[in-house]
Amino acid sequence: MALQRRLVVGVLTVISLLCVYILCVNLEVPLSWSLTPLKHDYTAGASNVSRDSEEPLDSATRPPSALHFHIEHQVLHEHTHATQTLKTQTSKVSKQKVENNVLDVSKSSSSSDGLDKTWIRTKGPTPKPQWITQAARTTEPSYIGDTYMSEDVPPQTDCPDGIQSRVTQTEFGERFLKNIPVLQWAKHVTPEQHQRLSRYPGAHGWGGVDYETLVETLSVLNSSANWQMFDDWKDRSSKPECIRCAVVGNGGILNNSKKGEEIDGHHYVFRTNGAVIKGFEKDVGSRTTHYTFSTNTMVNSMRSYAGAGYRGPPQSKETRYIFLPDHDRDYLLMKAAVTHTRVERGSEQNKDPSKYFGEDLSIEKFKMYHPDFIRYLRNRFLRSPSLKKFRNIYRPTTGAVMLLAALHTCSKVSAYGFMTPDYKSYSDHYFDIKHHPVAFFANHDMRMELILWQQLHQAGLIQLYMHK
Ligand SMILES: *[C@@H]1O[C@H](CO)[C@@H](O)[C@H](O)[C@H]1NC(C)=O
Ligand SMILES: *[C@@H]1O[C@H](CO)[C@@H](O)[C@H](O)[C@H]1NC(C)=O
Ligand SMILES: *[C@@H]1O[C@H](CO)[C@@H](O)[C@H](O)[C@H]1NC(C)=O
Repeated sequence: MALQRRLVVGVLTVISLLCVYILCVNLEVPLSWSLTPLKHDYTAGASNVSRDSEEPLDSATRPPSALHFHIEHQVLHEHTHATQTLKTQTSKVSKQKVENNVLDVSKSSSSSDGLDKTWIRTKGPTPKPQWITQAARTTEPSYIGDTYMSEDVPPQTDCPDGIQSRVTQTEFGERFLKNIPVLQWAKHVTPEQHQRLSRYPGAHGWGGVDYETLVETLSVLNSSANWQMFDDWKDRSSKPECIRCAVVGNGGILNNSKKGEEIDGHHYVFRTNGAVIKGFEKDVGSRTTHYTFSTNTMVNSMRSYAGAGYRGPPQSKETRYIFLPDHDRDYLLMKAAVTHTRVERGSEQNKDPSKYFGEDLSIEKFKMYHPDFIRYLRNRFLRSPSLKKFRNIYRPTTGAVMLLAALHTCSKVSAYGFMTPDYKSYSDHYFDIKHHPVAFFANHDMRMELILWQQLHQAGLIQLYMHK
């Protein structure tokens, strides 16, 4: 009898334990589901991430599954951190101004304040209504970081009707910063800058890159060619003139466009990622003066588009390589290139940089986008709703960074091969062997970019190639 009772109790215990377990599992499912919703086509796009890797969702930076708790924890952490950093920054501003190394704090102080208020507003005790209104106007989470270094870089030409002089009369005037550094170089790497920028991960800061690697890489970039986009402009023309740039994306709209000659007729020709040229000269031209990539997208392009004939970055005397650094692997490859050594560690360990860039590895051939510039593009031109969900991986596409960099440095910009409203009529890339539809990725917002290109075109700031 006692044995029987014990047996019954035992079975009951097991059953109730099972019930508790099932309850827990069920609770977890809707939580994680609600955290990874992808907007309409994005769902399909996410599954294509591994197949088409030009703009891949990096496995190393995939959102963790426990995203929900993770974010709240981080917000709390950043909340404290931001307040501290802001205090340090404010006290340093006057000194930095003297050094011509100015932080544009006009927008920042209010935005960092806003963060604190948002956080308290949602999580803390009930705030006074007036306070909410105020916070709502200036609210900005600290990971946004709408504060940038400002530099007095003299314009390379005095083109009377260039983009930089016309932009103020357009709807883009207010968000356009003429003095933001587009490229980073030796002068930028200081402990203060490191402290400021290590708050932002990926392409938007120096978070995750150790100071030593930064110093070793950036201190080599100490020639005017490293901070000037058009370092050979003086050799190209004797009289001041407007700098005309062709910015070439890889869109299928270029198939049969016959735009090659027109593209090559510009002073400078920008290309990115898997830009196959051989065999497509009639449509896309043959020159490349500026090639934009991250080590990740370049290596992936070499793997994914080998079948279409892509063997690596274009190489010519006039070609410059602009890194979009979104990992320490970019700093490590850059350092190896400019010091003529092999990559010391990481995914490219022991790789010889001449494998990618050819034998001419002079320092003047290399440039690197400033993380402030990338963060500014994200915040002010491409602040996608995806940023909220994927804030550690969302960034503008490599092509978007290239086009917006041209917008900030060229006098005139013609854009080819960028997404247009009729993108469904074309294959993903002009070099595709078989037609396949445009692939969307969770870490980018290509619809938002498409709209931005239309707006810039309508504002007369770029000339976007469209079929009609
Ligand atoms: C860069 O060059 C300048 C002068 O040409 C020199 O004073 C400075 O120390 C150099 N910076 C680095 C980090 O090597
Ligand atoms: C490129 O255009 C040609 C002619 O219009 C067409 O036959 C071909 O399918 C196109 N290629 C792709 C990848 O769409
Ligand atoms: C994803 O890939 C599949 C098969 O390769 C294709 O049918 C589908 O259209 C792609 N989706 C997107 C959004 O590109």
